[in-house]
Amino acid sequence: MLIFNHIKSIQQYLFSISAQKSIGFVPTMGALHKGHLSLINEAKKKNDVVIVSIFVNPTQFDKPEDLKNYPRFLHKDLALLKETGCDLVFTPSATEIYGKNVASTNFNFDGLENQMEGKFRSGHFDGVGTIITRFFKIINPTNAYFGEKDFQQLQIIKKLVEKNNLKVKIHGCEIFREKDGLAMSSRNSRLKEPYRKAAPFIYQTLVKAKKMFENYTENEINEWVKNEFSNNKFLSLEYFQIADEKTLQEIKTKDFNKKYRAFIAINAEDIRLIDNISLSSKNQ
Ligand code: PAJ
Repeated sequence: MLIFNHIKSIQQYLFSISAQKSIGFVPTMGALHKGHLSLINEAKKKNDVVIVSIFVNPTQFDKPEDLKNYPRFLHKDLALLKETGCDLVFTPSATEIYGKNVASTNFNFDGLENQMEGKFRSGHFDGVGTIITRFFKIINPTNAYFGEKDFQQLQIIKKLVEKNNLKVKIHGCEIFREKDGLAMSSRNSRLKEPYRKAAPFIYQTLVKAKKMFENYTENEINEWVKNEFSNNKFLSLEYFQIADEKTLQEIKTKDFNKKYRAFIAINAEDIRLIDNISLSSKNQ
C-alpha cells in the first residue's frame, strides 16, 4: 500500500500507471470503521486501483470545537486499510490542500443544500463541495463511493457531478450498522457509556416511523417522534424530517410515484449523530 501526503507526488504516480486502469476513490475523514471499509470493499469489486483519502476537512466544520475534537487515529487507520487491500492512501495536510486560505467556495446545489444538515450546519456543504471538487481534480477517479449514512451529502455530490459534467460515476452504499442498530460513525467512539447505551433508540425510532408511514400522516409521525425524544435524558432531537429522496424537500402529500426517506439528527451531549431510513424499500 502506497501512502502519499503531497498532491504532486500522487499525481506523478497516477500519471505513471496506465491510463486504462480504472480508479475507485473513497474519500474519508479517517477514524475508520466497518462502514468505511464496506465502501472500500465495493470499490475493490469494480476498479483496478483503490484510493482512500484521509483528510479532516476544516472547511466543512461549522464549530471549531467539533473540528478540534474530531477523532484522529492515523496509525490504526493505515493498518486497517492495508488489511482491507487498499492500494493507495492520500493523507494531505490542510496547508497542502488550502495553502494559507482555508476557505470554501460557494455552491448552488439547486436547493439540496438548504434542507436538513444545511439548515443546522452553516456552510457545511460548501466545505464538502470544495474538498470533493479538489480531490476529484487531483485524482480524476473513474468511480467514487459515498455512504447513504450521509444521504444528503450523497445527493449533493451527485448534483455536483451532474452540474459540472464530471466523468466520475458516483455510487451510494448502504448504511453499515452496529449489532444494536446504531449507524456506524467515527463520532460513536466519543460517546460516553450512558449515551452509547441510549443511542440505538435513534434507529429503533426510525424503524417505527417507517412502519407508521403506511397508516399515519407526516404530521402525526413528526409529533410522535418529538414526543418519543421529549423524555429522553441522553438524546435530544435536533430535527426529524420525512423528505423526497430526490429533492430532499419535506413531504407534503404522499405521492406513490416518489421515494421517501426519514432523516434524523440527535445531540448526545456534545456529539451530533445523524441517521436515515428508506420509507419506500421493503428492507430496513
Ligand atoms: P466520513 O464521515 O469519514 O465518511 C466517509 C464516507 O463513509 C462517507 O461517504 C460516509 O457517508 C461513509 N460512511 C460513514 N459511516 C457509514 C456507515 N455507517 N455506513 C456506510 N457508509 C458510511 O463524509 C465524510 O467523511 C466527509 O464529508 C467527506 C466526504 C470525506 C468530505 O470531507
